[in-house]
Amino acid sequence: MTDDQLAAGRHAEPVAIVGAGGLGQEVLDAVVVAGRPVSGFLDDEAEEAFGPAQPEAVPAGASVIVALGDPVVRSEILQRFAGFDRWATVVHPSAVVSSRSRLAHGVFVGALAYVGPLARVGTHVVVNVHAEVGHHVTVGPLATLSPMVALNGGVTIGDGVFLGTGASVEPGVTIGAWSRVAAGAHITRDCAACHLLAGNPAKGRRMFEPPEPSSSAPVDW
Ligand SMILES: CC(C)(COP(=O)(O)OP(=O)(O)OC[C@H]1O[C@@H](n2cnc3c(N)ncnc32)[C@H](O)[C@@H]1OP(=O)(O)O)[C@@H](O)C(=O)NCCC(=O)NCCS
Repeated sequence: MTDDQLAAGRHAEPVAIVGAGGLGQEVLDAVVVAGRPVSGFLDDEAEEAFGPAQPEAVPAGASVIVALGDPVVRSEILQRFAGFDRWATVVHPSAVVSSRSRLAHGVFVGALAYVGPLARVGTHVVVNVHAEVGHHVTVGPLATLSPMVALNGGVTIGDGVFLGTGASVEPGVTIGAWSRVAAGAHITRDCAACHLLAGNPAKGRRMFEPPEPSSSAPVDW
């Protein structure tokens, strides 16, 4: 850790992490390694949580990140936080994030991940460990990039898309909102919204209903 990171940590507000599962543990590690203070977990059920996943339980002065891997679940929890505005963006110090990329609030970038130049990553997106967001990529709000996902240059990922471990997307391809991409799938061409995609080359296996309108906000950048 550099002196700058240590100094930043000393002055940063504490981070409360919603969700004490696997992703929450990854986020906790990243917050600690970045030298930022931690409030702990907010979770409706986990024993180690200090309170439920509700804005009323957030300690004064803390900022919050929602660490739930499924975009639909994450967006549902975010409904509880409507009007809340103290969101943390957490980047593991080992990640490489271009100074010419843009990360919105509430984003997690895990260990050894990469975000390239002119990439834009929307609110409450998860870029999990070892995932790669190439140059000029746009990732819509609430999307999840599981470990080792590879998005080549110019890819567009719609709001709430889930990409399973090791999925890859060819340059310039667009994936429609809320689609779910199976682990290891290789996407070669544009895909419509709300499809389950699997295989290499990936094919649409089935369609599903989009989440309730109440699940799709917030979509701001
Ligand atoms: C995409 C996914 C979410 C679909 O799960 P699901 O909704 O329960 O769908 P199913 O398991 O019924 O699969 C639907 C079809 O896709 C196929 N399929 C699912 N995963 C596949 C994969 N990785 N590769 C190839 N085909 C796959 C299934 O065989 C099934 O085919 P069929 O209709 O011919 O029987 C799940 O398969 C997946 O890949 N999850 C990723 C998990 C992950 O990486 N998590 C990250 C943790 S950090």
